[in-house]
Amino acid sequence: MAATAPQVRAEGTHGSGPDDVGALVDLVRGRKAVALTGAGISTESGIPDYRGPGTRERARNPIQHRDFVRDAAVRRRYWARAFVGWDRFSRARPNAGHAAVAELEASGAVTAVVTQNVDRLHQAAGSRTVIELHGALSDVRCLGCGSLEKREDVQHRLMLLNPRLVGTSATIAPDGDAELARSIVDDFEVADCLSCNGPLKPDVVFFGGSVPQPVVEAAYQRVDGAEVLLVLGTSLAVYSGFRFVRRAHERGIPVAIVNLGETRADPYAAVRIDRPLGATLTDLADALRRRTDG
Ligand SMILES: NC(=O)c1ccc[n+]([C@@H]2O[C@H](COP(=O)([O-])OP(=O)(O)OC[C@H]3O[C@@H](n4cnc5c(N)ncnc54)[C@H](O)[C@@H]3O)[C@@H](O)[C@H]2O)c1
Ligand SMILES: [Zn+2]
Repeated sequence: MAATAPQVRAEGTHGSGPDDVGALVDLVRGRKAVALTGAGISTESGIPDYRGPGTRERARNPIQHRDFVRDAAVRRRYWARAFVGWDRFSRARPNAGHAAVAELEASGAVTAVVTQNVDRLHQAAGSRTVIELHGALSDVRCLGCGSLEKREDVQHRLMLLNPRLVGTSATIAPDGDAELARSIVDDFEVADCLSCNGPLKPDVVFFGGSVPQPVVEAAYQRVDGAEVLLVLGTSLAVYSGFRFVRRAHERGIPVAIVNLGETRADPYAAVRIDRPLGATLTDLADALRRRTDG
């Protein structure tokens, strides 16, 4: 809670340079951290982000929640692209950054991961306490009756419905879908709910959708109990993640950022490191382990 917040100013800098992992180690050592992660921690696993150095200029039209719910054509386009993109997305494996976060949790340095990612790579790396703000692509929910189905099973049904497309590959896009020719989309057969024939939606929060309140509350609780907030690989352009930095700031909990390029949380950072996450988090975990061993 706020009373446990350390006496480190949550504003300004530590006088650390952008590559100063030592300042990060000093801030994290001996304090319980919560990690707030985004697409940037998964780019080293081959899943592109939205607003990274290479992707910022790429014009994309993300699916809007309202359009998906209202418009069967939007759902057809989504599922056609998602069907083709799934193979690569589902084969992505955790990288050194995910592994380091899991190690920090195992050693007690990190108490929880609050993630905006939908790829479940934190869990695959061994993180146990993971709050998924935006759900996960490996779950599919019926918009009619709310029942849940595994994406693998939906993928299998889509394969049977669209045998011509099996083996089609395409450029993977951030949300697990892919760029695809119009004709393929128009002919695509979507799968419906097995219980009620209702339309299926990946159980993720699209743009314009909202994070379920219990999930937000659980994340606030974790942040309130933290002694440092680690912001890892997220531009925080989206409010659903940014609010936790604001909360930490209000409570005097210092914020450390590891991110290539700017983030919306930069003005709140006690430490800010502009360096790839895999190497940086590995260095952090190594430094903390050395201290523990010695
Ligand atoms: N892997 C995923 O599950 C995934 C991927 C893309 C988008 N999304 C969704 O889209 C939204 C995107 O917002 P966001 O803030 O998470 O992502 P974002 O794309 O807005 O920001 C990612 C940030 O990470 C930085 N980055 C990229 N690779 C990095 C690396 N190796 N080391 C350090 N920094 C690196 C980028 O420069 C960028 O500033 C999220 O809400 C998420 O739900 C999820
Ligand atoms: Zn249903």
